[in-house]
Amino acid sequence: MNYPNSAIFPFIALSLLLLSSLPWRATSDSSFPSSVDKFLQCLGNRSAPLLESVYTRTNPSFESVLRALIRNRRFVTPQTPKPVAIVAPNHVSHVQSTVVCAKDNDLQIRIRSGGHDYEGLSYRSNVTFVILDMFNLRSIKVDVDNEVAYVQAGATLGELYYKIGNASNVHAFPAGVCTSLGTGGHFTGGGYGNMMRKYGISADNILDAQVVDVNGKILDRAAMGEDLFWAIRGGGGESFAVIVEWKIKLVRVPKKVTVFDVPFTLEQGATDVAFKWQQVAPKLHEDVFIRLHPCVVNGTLLVHVIGFFLGESEKLVPLVNQNFPELNLTKADCKEMSWLESVLFWDDYPTGTPVEALLNRTQGPSDSSKNKSDYVKTVIPKVDLETIWKLLIELANSTGANVLMQWNPYGGKMSEIRESDLPFPHRAGNLFLIEYVVYWLEEGTNVTDHKVDRARHMHDRMAPFVSKEPRGAFLNYRDNDIGSTGSGRTDFKEAQVYGRKYFKDNFERLTMVKAMVDPDNFFKNEQSIPPKIK
Ligand SMILES: Cc1cc2nc3c(=O)[nH]c(=O)nc-3n(C[C@H](O)[C@H](O)[C@H](O)COP(=O)(O)OP(=O)(O)OC[C@H]3O[C@@H](n4cnc5c(N)ncnc54)[C@H](O)[C@@H]3O)c2cc1C
Ligand SMILES: *[C@@H]1O[C@H](CO)[C@@H](O)[C@H](O)[C@H]1NC(C)=O
Ligand SMILES: *[C@@H]1O[C@H](CO)[C@@H](O)[C@H](O)[C@H]1NC(C)=O
Ligand SMILES: *[C@@H]1O[C@H](CO)[C@@H](O)[C@H](O)[C@H]1NC(C)=O
Ligand SMILES: *[C@@H]1O[C@H](CO)[C@@H](O)[C@H](O)[C@H]1NC(C)=O
Ligand SMILES: *[C@@H]1O[C@H](CO)[C@@H](O)[C@H](O)[C@H]1NC(C)=O
Ligand SMILES: *[C@@H]1O[C@H](CO)[C@@H](O)[C@H](O)[C@H]1NC(C)=O
Ligand SMILES: *[C@@H]1O[C@H](CO)[C@@H](O)[C@H](O)[C@H]1NC(C)=O
Ligand SMILES: *[C@@H]1O[C@H](CO)[C@@H](O)[C@H](O)[C@H]1NC(C)=O
Ligand SMILES: *[C@@H]1O[C@H](CO)[C@@H](O)[C@H](O)[C@H]1NC(C)=O
Repeated sequence: MNYPNSAIFPFIALSLLLLSSLPWRATSDSSFPSSVDKFLQCLGNRSAPLLESVYTRTNPSFESVLRALIRNRRFVTPQTPKPVAIVAPNHVSHVQSTVVCAKDNDLQIRIRSGGHDYEGLSYRSNVTFVILDMFNLRSIKVDVDNEVAYVQAGATLGELYYKIGNASNVHAFPAGVCTSLGTGGHFTGGGYGNMMRKYGISADNILDAQVVDVNGKILDRAAMGEDLFWAIRGGGGESFAVIVEWKIKLVRVPKKVTVFDVPFTLEQGATDVAFKWQQVAPKLHEDVFIRLHPCVVNGTLLVHVIGFFLGESEKLVPLVNQNFPELNLTKADCKEMSWLESVLFWDDYPTGTPVEALLNRTQGPSDSSKNKSDYVKTVIPKVDLETIWKLLIELANSTGANVLMQWNPYGGKMSEIRESDLPFPHRAGNLFLIEYVVYWLEEGTNVTDHKVDRARHMHDRMAPFVSKEPRGAFLNYRDNDIGSTGSGRTDFKEAQVYGRKYFKDNFERLTMVKAMVDPDNFFKNEQSIPPKIK
């Protein structure tokens, strides 16, 4: 095997070892290195130590590294296309090398932080691609005196929450409920949790960022300018740059917060509760966050009412009952704990789990699922709620598709921020965000097709009750049904469809920023932002 100029590369021996057994060599013309070979040579040339954290398909660890951060079992099948290599930088210079070498060799990358993308777009594509995997870049520094923290993209929310809680019992950060999410993908897609009515979404609380741009340059906020800094806070990093680190603003929480989870059956008034909730939950004091969780258990409907309050139950109970007597909340329903402990409660850890569990990066076995989202702007009348419940029961009973819903109230701080302040546009005027989740354990494409079809059916039937023109959707709840380019190219017309749903009028500005910072569209996936056509 002859590589041009190989003699001058000090680390070529290692590269050769790596390359000689690569599967694609069998089919590619062996007299010329493929773009993948050249990419790997380039990496070795620029950062030799990086080669130790490159996993090609023949590396014995390839499968386990690939799967370690695949959250959805739907994408762990023999049919799921795999990357030609996974590059896992240990240093920001490795990120620079990966970008430069991929771009020089026309090789697409997919950036992965926590791997929770609902459609797996951080690790699957029909084009030839490399995963830029951020899991080694996960340092966290908490500076309580200045009420800020620095967190790298590969850190999980659980690690971040733990570190904040460890440094202070009166500080926190407003972000997602699921603690295995990566801060890289989560913050750049918006990031909401049970403090959004008080403090907004994660993106609203980012002060600065370190990114690697399309030319392999390291930029901070001052260097990247306000347009790019705007775009990465809710517009999706996959279209703009590699986010290496965030500087975030810590928020204040009391030493004790209160949580509850009260289920209602239809007989216990679930419909009345859900009807009143729509009118009350988006208007309650911003220290209160009450989520509804309608689902079908044992063939009957159950609505869980799950609460979070920045304060003690003594204050919460009268506050809720004054406005929401249907809930009949009592002190006995409430549990008081530290904010860090409440993180475990909301992420469904068993009571009494030590907070150190948040540092465990090993994920348990995952389900297959298909999720979708909607925004509701007007109260759904009781008669229609009953139709929705009937549909959920019918889906579970006669088609074996268990659909559960999460209703997350907006209002408070979410209504005070202008739609154009950040790419995330879903602000005033929204009563709540709906997430639809269909999950299953069975394997097989026919089962998958059936369950996905039922999720779409549920979404179709909800059309009369949700936002229109555009029918809004939440970027972090990525959904390829609303337009995607399965080819891995980015078609402007297609992009306008999902772009308007995710970003409303901010889509236009996103395409302008894209044209400015990445006119050749290097940073992309099947649902990314295309550069504005001149
Ligand atoms: C169980 C579960 C619970 C969830 N709960 C919530 C919740 O409470 N609130 C909420 O808002 N969302 C929630 N989500 C959605 C979640 O926020 C998104 O899936 C988010 O994109 C995950 O980020 P990640 O880094 O884990 O994912 P990844 O799959 O790694 O990345 C997601 C996207 O961001 C891009 N990206 C990742 N890292 C970088 C980077 N460093 N630079 C540039 N681009 C990057 C990827 O290329 C991909 O397009 C949940 C998801 C799951 C699976
Ligand atoms: C390796 O680096 C040298 C010097 O920086 C450069 O001239 C050469 O083109 C590089 N080779 C590859 C394959 O990137
Ligand atoms: C759908 O959402 C649920 C609950 O938030 C989550 O457990 C599941 O992993 C999500 N599905 C996908 C495809 O990520
Ligand atoms: C902080 O973390 C250290 C090391 O994990 C632990 O020993 C200590 O008890 C923690 N302190 C607090 C206040 O949580
Ligand atoms: C559902 O049925 C199972 C098994 O009969 C039972 O253990 C469980 O408590 C039931 N759940 C509810 C919410 O009724
Ligand atoms: C759904 O199935 C349960 C038993 O699993 C049954 O009790 C209930 O009546 C069924 N409901 C409908 C609407 O079919
Ligand atoms: C409210 O809850 C209490 C205690 O659980 C119960 O005794 C009472 O009957 C409930 N009232 C209503 C109207 O449901
Ligand atoms: C970490 O989590 C995994 C999956 O839930 C579990 O199997 C494992 O025992 C946990 N490890 C520790 C040290 O708790
Ligand atoms: C899928 O196929 C298997 C085996 O062919 C069959 O047993 C099962 O009922 C099918 N499931 C659906 C939902 O069609
Ligand atoms: C790849 O192509 C298949 C078949 O058309 C499609 O089902 C799949 O969604 C595509 N993958 C991506 C990531 O778009």
